Amino acid sequence: MTAPWWRSAVFYQVYPRSFAPSRPAPTGDLAGIEAHLDHLSWLGVDAVWLSPFYPSPQADFGYDVSDYCDVDPAYGDLAAFDKLLGACHERDLRLLVDLVPNHSSDRHPWFVAARSSRDDPKRDWYIWRDGTPDEPPNNWMAAFSPVPAWTWDDATGQWYLHQFLPQQPDLNWDNPEVVEAMHDVMRFWLDRGVDGFRIDVIHGIGKEPGLPDDPPDMARLPHATLNDTARTHELIRGMRALVDSYPGDRLMLGEVYLLSTERVATYYGEGDELHLSFNFPPLYTRWRADRWRAQIADTHRLIDGRGAWATWVLSNHDNVRHRSRYGSENRARAALFLLLGLRGSPVLYAGEELGLEDAVVPPDRVVDPGGRDGCRAPVPWSAAADHGWGVTDPWLPWPPEPERRNVEDLSADTSSILHLYRRLLAARRASPALRLGDFEMLDAGPDVVAWRRTGGAGSGHRIVAVNMGPSPAALELAGTVLVASDGAGEGSPFPGTLGPDRAVLIEPV
Ligand code: NOJ
Repeated sequence: MTAPWWRSAVFYQVYPRSFAPSRPAPTGDLAGIEAHLDHLSWLGVDAVWLSPFYPSPQADFGYDVSDYCDVDPAYGDLAAFDKLLGACHERDLRLLVDLVPNHSSDRHPWFVAARSSRDDPKRDWYIWRDGTPDEPPNNWMAAFSPVPAWTWDDATGQWYLHQFLPQQPDLNWDNPEVVEAMHDVMRFWLDRGVDGFRIDVIHGIGKEPGLPDDPPDMARLPHATLNDTARTHELIRGMRALVDSYPGDRLMLGEVYLLSTERVATYYGEGDELHLSFNFPPLYTRWRADRWRAQIADTHRLIDGRGAWATWVLSNHDNVRHRSRYGSENRARAALFLLLGLRGSPVLYAGEELGLEDAVVPPDRVVDPGGRDGCRAPVPWSAAADHGWGVTDPWLPWPPEPERRNVEDLSADTSSILHLYRRLLAARRASPALRLGDFEMLDAGPDVVAWRRTGGAGSGHRIVAVNMGPSPAALELAGTVLVASDGAGEGSPFPGTLGPDRAVLIEPV
């Protein structure tokens, strides 16, 4: 049986507001993404995940959707979306859209109706509870700031639940009409030809009956990091059946923001829930070989161990970029060998191929209620003052060193991190062992994470070694260096020593 496309795919996340505009503008748009698809083909990724571009008041920059079946005029229209999808498919790039099923915007007509009266037919599409204005129905906390996950609606005298902002009321998935409405949204995009969905906080949609308090020792954490109930698994199975009824291996890549690989693993079900899930504990792992070995072992035991397929991600629109977290370009380069060399599907975040750090955002330019502006800084395309945007002052400040870290300049420099991304992506594409093969951890001393990939219905084995320590490491590995994080010695025999914060891909003899 051949593996489905998404097992060997490398995903690339595009945050539409920050990627590229098609005309001089402070924010990007869909036509701007289309105009830059050649960059993605040149780089060598397989699939694009588009963060939300739907009509939205932008309280949470698109994750507050006011119409699930349209495009926000700031980003274009449905014709522009169809054109982008066609352009992706012409280049053999798959396209995932972001489904936000846990909550809508408070301006969505569903919530506007629900809020209008207790008797409105849409009232039960959201989660309302009786009470008094001074005491929320339970101890659940919202994300982003330490406030209750409940807002009192004065006009109708009840509380409504929101695991995120008050402008993002949770939908009531216990109401079959909501399930059907969200299935219709999925059909809308599947019928247009998308290759699948990245699904926002999928673990949040089911709620434990009776909405019990979170345990007191956890009660300071956002409830969205704790919501984990059997009900959600049933709902995911319903979505999966719908997706599987379409031809072409359409994909459900879920965001399960539970910080336990053991819990994340359960969302793959018995092959009848998510095809792929994000697994964030590795993203929060420091640059230390012992920590990484432990994360990798957990992932293999808990995800591979149940016959499921892992994902690897180090940066996205919600977290400080790993180039900034790890503190140097050398480490960011070496980290790519984890992303592309471990067993599973990597998800890259636009701009990491430039080695971008988070932008420094002065207090008067902060726009995100969750403090995530830095990693959402616009992608610089050239060294010019407008960095290819047609304006010099986009919606967020530029990331550091845009006059050097931009697509045009780094494309012209074969020693750049951008070229390293391209070389390692090509080496992965050419190796069935790296894409689909088995995994075996190697013992390479305390500071080195090293492993072998074998099989994958193909030719040669591959060995990857990453030195996370402060000194050169002597390694008894014989073979040819295919790709080195600093570009040194590629095509030559491995010299036996790996420098600090360096990584290599070796074809063993
Ligand atoms: C996860 C998304 O990645 C994040 O950006 C958003 O704020 C929350 N879900 C709520 O939708």
